[in-house]
Amino acid sequence: MTVYANSATTHVDWERFLARRTQHMKGSAIRELLKFTQQPDVISFGGGMPAPELFPVREIEEACNYLLRAVPKQALQYSTTEGYPPLREYLADSMAKYGIRHSPDNILITTGSQQALDLIGKIFIDPGSAVITGRPTYLGAIQAWRAYEAEFVTIPLDDDGMQVELLEDVVKRTPVRLIYILPNFHNPAGTTLPEDRRHLLVEIARKYDLLIVEDDPYGALRYTGEDLIPIAALAPERTIYLATFSKTLTPGLRVGWSVAPAEITQRLVQAKQGADLHSSTFDQMIANDVAQRGILKAHVRKLRQVYKERRDVMLDALAEFWPEGSSWTQPQGGLFLWARTPESIDTLKLFPRALENKVAYVPGINFYPHEDGGFNAMRLNFSNAQPDMIVEGIRRLGAALKDELAHK
Ligand SMILES: Cc1ncc(COP(=O)(O)O)c(C=O)c1O
Repeated sequence: MTVYANSATTHVDWERFLARRTQHMKGSAIRELLKFTQQPDVISFGGGMPAPELFPVREIEEACNYLLRAVPKQALQYSTTEGYPPLREYLADSMAKYGIRHSPDNILITTGSQQALDLIGKIFIDPGSAVITGRPTYLGAIQAWRAYEAEFVTIPLDDDGMQVELLEDVVKRTPVRLIYILPNFHNPAGTTLPEDRRHLLVEIARKYDLLIVEDDPYGALRYTGEDLIPIAALAPERTIYLATFSKTLTPGLRVGWSVAPAEITQRLVQAKQGADLHSSTFDQMIANDVAQRGILKAHVRKLRQVYKERRDVMLDALAEFWPEGSSWTQPQGGLFLWARTPESIDTLKLFPRALENKVAYVPGINFYPHEDGGFNAMRLNFSNAQPDMIVEGIRRLGAALKDELAHK
């Protein structure tokens, strides 16, 4: 039997050795909440997880077999920080179709987009630096940049995403390091920034000479409407564009990328060297193989069809089972919608009751950098559960809400 060291017997006051910045670090509330949802009978709308039954397992197995047979010495070796060149070429080509025309040299492969957010924090954020985000915004960005002691300056969202009209007034008064924007199928809000707001954002960024971080993990997963021009296509000189294979292929591979002006990419490369030298060579080569063989494209087509159905099932179930006074966004793509309950409900307090009803979600407050909103809101994921489970989960949530309202 293995005997593990028992830290309880010899106490070391290790907290006094911690760097000051750790005071700003917090565990992800979502990951904590999700621990409760692991039981198989809980229907979880909590995580941002793709449908696991759709993972292209056989095709990934083929890619692994091929790589280990044909190029094992390369696939299992250290590689360059910038990333696997054929993959960067593929990505440059595929982004050009959306109007993002950068050379493969401007692309850095990252260990998921989450790493890109961290590296951006590492090179741009000093303690107290102002960063503009939406209110609400992606929790992982808050977590990454809080560690660098960012000062979050927030702009409210409406059903069309960030209210960019309010931006100029803020940047006029505050020196800002970054504007963080999620234009397509926002996490958590499910909103899409219309083209006029994209143009206005670029106009303001140019007028005040600002940098934009465009986080776009969901752009390829559009179910209704037309693709809109990326901000990186409108303002390539000042936009860092982030994307990932996590939602379109599998998150377990941990392959994402950034594309940015050359000077910024160079800095990100330096920051990444200190973090992990490079992203997994093998994972990058698998992603590249699957993408080059056309499997990714076919897979995304399939995802669009399946997730569109799941989104519609969730929207219908909300209309059927939720109490009067509730409302929700109508996402054109992505994995989430944002649901508002009647005002008197506190979704954080409702969470234990929902868990008793065997259903989970993420309370809205978690997506507010200053925890100053989202009290009667929640993020609901519609990609992970199968349609009958979505209906049942929304019914259970509706029952929990009605129960809570009856006891007010
Ligand atoms: C907006 C946004 N950015 C970044 C990420 C991180 O994705 P990954 O690190 O898996 O590429 C996510 C994941 O949910 C996300 O929703």
